Amino acid sequence: MMHPPTHAPVRRLLGSAPFGTTPTGQAVDQIEITNAGGIRLSVLSYGGVIRTIHVPDRDGTFADVALGYDTLEGYLSDTAYLGAIVGRVANRVAAGRMTVDGRELTLAQNADGNHLHGGVRGFDKAVWSMQRFERDGAAGVVLTHVSPDGDEGYPGTLRAEVTYTLDDADQLRVDYVATADAVTPVNLTQHSYFNLHGAGHGDVLDHELTLAASRFTPVNDAFIPTGELRAVQGTPLDFTSPHVIGERIGADDEQLRSALGYDHNFVIDRSEENGLALAARLYEPRSGRGVDVYTTEPGIQFYSGNFLDGRAIGKGAQPYRYRTGLALETQHFPDAPNHPEFPSIVLRPGAEYRSSTIYHFVVRP
Ligand code: BGC
Repeated sequence: MMHPPTHAPVRRLLGSAPFGTTPTGQAVDQIEITNAGGIRLSVLSYGGVIRTIHVPDRDGTFADVALGYDTLEGYLSDTAYLGAIVGRVANRVAAGRMTVDGRELTLAQNADGNHLHGGVRGFDKAVWSMQRFERDGAAGVVLTHVSPDGDEGYPGTLRAEVTYTLDDADQLRVDYVATADAVTPVNLTQHSYFNLHGAGHGDVLDHELTLAASRFTPVNDAFIPTGELRAVQGTPLDFTSPHVIGERIGADDEQLRSALGYDHNFVIDRSEENGLALAARLYEPRSGRGVDVYTTEPGIQFYSGNFLDGRAIGKGAQPYRYRTGLALETQHFPDAPNHPEFPSIVLRPGAEYRSSTIYHFVVRP
């Protein structure tokens, strides 16, 4: 007698386990989730870090494509923001100074006199509350963090909630929500580094990148935007059609020299002002692994791992050397409050900050 095929229910929540304790005695947990196609993700309550992302190649062989560490100690001494949630304000703020509603703010200076990625103790170094959930065809975690008034120089108490959802269409969706009781800037991002060969397996110079961006925000030698929105056309920053990253990274170009490689915010070409738009396509031809990035944000920072220097010892005791991972950070433009012409990052009491990004993992023939 013929039986209809039976499908065992997918076990999406693989486990929750302690991952260590911070020097101040805070317990850190790790949650692992999966989907019907076998993609596996692990998330830490420390920094809301995405620690591992296992995805298949075109032959069905899985590799962990996210840079990260084996132990909490790795994350405690990390300076590269591997896999973390970054806030209150991602990227650089010139001299850590900005004026918001006539009020002058002085933020922590942690990068050559500038403010970078939320300061000395940004959201990447906080232990978040973490809860897992499962619903039809998807599983995920909800992370919450309360940043107190005065945190790294930021005014008001800010409540942030970040949800990671992995579904059976191989999409990892990141939803950010924040509210505050005083006027404050906010610009959150996710700082995962990808290496589609598998983390620790060579550099990313052979990855092919497409960016839906015909303009970018050029920077000075201190990595601070000049305020200009410049056309990429005719420059090595033109990724409007696919290019291998290593092809032009060494070109004699003023912007590549200033940023020591690719480390630029690209202005996403959107047909509509709101909603999710395709921002980036990353593809590694040997394995066939790819990731497409969609976002509601106006910008995306493409950072080619120029500061990785082998000192960070990653998973499996692999040193993360020069350009062995790249980040695609969806965001509002860097240093926005100091450039009134850039879209505003000011959040007011009673209003809600909302941002969403999807990483769609794909395999191409
Ligand atoms: C920035 C780099 C910075 C790095 C820190 C990136 O998001 O664009 O300039 O050095 O983060 O790991």
